[in-house]
Amino acid sequence: MSANELIANLDKLGDEFLSVIQPLSDEQAIRAAQAQFLGKKGKVSEVMKELSKLPPADRPLVGAAVNKVKQTIEEQVCRRLGELTALAAKADLARVVDVTLPARPVPQGHLHLLTQVRLEAVQIFSELGFVVADGPQIETDWHTFEALAIPKDHPARDMQDTFYLSEEIVLRTHTSPVQVRTMLTQAPPIRIVAPGHVYRRDDDPTHSPMFTQIEGLAVDEGLSFADLKGVLIHFVSRFFQKELTVRLRPSYFPFVEPGAEVDMQCSFCGGSGCRLCKGTGWVEIGGAGVVDPDVFAHCKIDSEKYTGFAFGMGLERMAMLRHGVNDIKFYYEGDVRFLEQF
Ligand code: PHE
Repeated sequence: MSANELIANLDKLGDEFLSVIQPLSDEQAIRAAQAQFLGKKGKVSEVMKELSKLPPADRPLVGAAVNKVKQTIEEQVCRRLGELTALAAKADLARVVDVTLPARPVPQGHLHLLTQVRLEAVQIFSELGFVVADGPQIETDWHTFEALAIPKDHPARDMQDTFYLSEEIVLRTHTSPVQVRTMLTQAPPIRIVAPGHVYRRDDDPTHSPMFTQIEGLAVDEGLSFADLKGVLIHFVSRFFQKELTVRLRPSYFPFVEPGAEVDMQCSFCGGSGCRLCKGTGWVEIGGAGVVDPDVFAHCKIDSEKYTGFAFGMGLERMAMLRHGVNDIKFYYEGDVRFLEQF
């Protein structure tokens, strides 16, 4: 082939490439076509093989034509790829948006069931003149046990129940130390409730190592066991929104005398007996009693002048009874499917 023929062929290759890539609409196909022309065994290389057969004087001209066609092909690739990007962007813009479609719901959070129950309990007691008192969860042994007349050998001090941080510091096992802190800082008349977390070495479907209690304490002249019972009956009736009664079953807590376990009439069956109350018609909700003079002595309150009553209830239990929650773990797992029901 002569130099002129080769140059004509090269020009044709440029035109041919253009017609090959124009219909292509994805980058991969364009790159493949590029390789077909410019690759080692591509069409342009085939023409270049002829170059060595030419007289040396003709070679620069043809060489220049090769470079030109290479450049043309590269430019066409760039141009076509640019076109495709622009087309894609335009298609994106033109996508129809149906503004009448309903919006996707935005999930809305709310207070945790236990928080709701705690606020409600506080509200009910506040109607009777109780105010909220607070105390630390990391508490001294003295406030938790000693001042509450719990002797060293009492089962509540057993290592099984109490998390000891040191000899003198514990995670409070009940909210009763708030009684002590209140009586040490306030003069009677006292009426407080103290909701908060407590800790015990306990773990099964009805017990968690951390749970929530609400403590109540009233100290005044002339308070009696009957006042305690009245407050508890008012509380359960308001909390469960039906008339329920309370039974005080004699029991022992070192810091009250007399002391009692508080049972309430089963809110599910109304007392006729069901699975929840194990057929008895009663469910236990806490402990209560008349403040022991020993505790008053520790807190420098005159037990000749004042009497008082105290109670402590488990809030998880209250929520369980009202909402039929059957495993205490549900409260703490943070599973939205559980939480959103309340
Ligand atoms: N603190 C006791 C407990 O956690 C409950 C209680 C409170 C009992 C107040 C009597 C008076 O078991």
